[in-house]
Amino acid sequence: MSTTATNFDDGIAYEAWMGRWSRIVGEKFLEWLSPAEKLSWLDVGCGNGAFTELVYAKCAPSGIQGVDPSQEQLDVANSRASSKTIEYRIGAAQALPFDDKTFDVVAMALAINLPPDPKVAVAEMLRVTKSGGTVATYMWDIPNGGITMEPIRTALREMNINTPIFGEAITTPENMKELWENAGLNDVSLTQIEIDLSFKSFDDFWNSNTGMENTVVRAMKSLSDTEIETLKANLKSNLPTDSSGNICYRAFANAAKGLVP
Ligand SMILES: C[S@@+](CC[C@H](N)C(=O)[O-])C[C@H]1O[C@@H](n2cnc3c(N)ncnc32)[C@H](O)[C@@H]1O
Repeated sequence: MSTTATNFDDGIAYEAWMGRWSRIVGEKFLEWLSPAEKLSWLDVGCGNGAFTELVYAKCAPSGIQGVDPSQEQLDVANSRASSKTIEYRIGAAQALPFDDKTFDVVAMALAINLPPDPKVAVAEMLRVTKSGGTVATYMWDIPNGGITMEPIRTALREMNINTPIFGEAITTPENMKELWENAGLNDVSLTQIEIDLSFKSFDDFWNSNTGMENTVVRAMKSLSDTEIETLKANLKSNLPTDSSGNICYRAFANAAKGLVP
């Protein structure tokens, strides 16, 4: 089935939808990666800088650059205090604007499904990494229900409405492992990272997941106002809550890493 990729053209709405969770997964990903200090980093598909800033804060890099095709996302990245020490530039994973063997670590956070051909993107990430350096990624396990807006996708599925996500097949553990191994990386390993999502109210849950154009927002355009109210009522009665009334559930991502020969 052909799907449309989300337009990442609003870095503020992105923060409310995904940036806040990216940072939490990113922290666990960096613990797993356990990089040395004083390495040079590239963040591919850096978006509004949510993960890039984390690398800056946690990894004591010698230098860090971010690259993304969306100027709107980069505008938000450049407004962060950390941007004084991070160099952001326009570019896409399939044609990285860097020389061969430039970086010690090249990472891609929540974006491996987006390039037209992920194999080309990983080959590019290898090309710009020094021998012995690390190429790594993490991405929601979409086919297995790991993405943050999964409860809405499930409720829509129960109404016979599918919400395909661009490039989602690559995000299973099996396909990510194959992608990393076939790229020629050594010592490839994978892990699954789970996080707890918490929304302070139904409005917080709803506005976060629908505040930016994405697959569930597109699917809901075919629904009447009454059907949307039914969808919301179903979600309200089925979403798990904690003792404080916060809506809480889990999301999970697959992470892959390997060393450049
Ligand atoms: C879900 S966001 C992730 C942003 C950020 N890495 C984070 O963790 O919050 C996906 C990002 O990938 C970018 N993107 C889309 N197509 C891309 C491509 N071909 N190469 C690199 N990045 C791409 C989008 O502009 C967007 O900023």
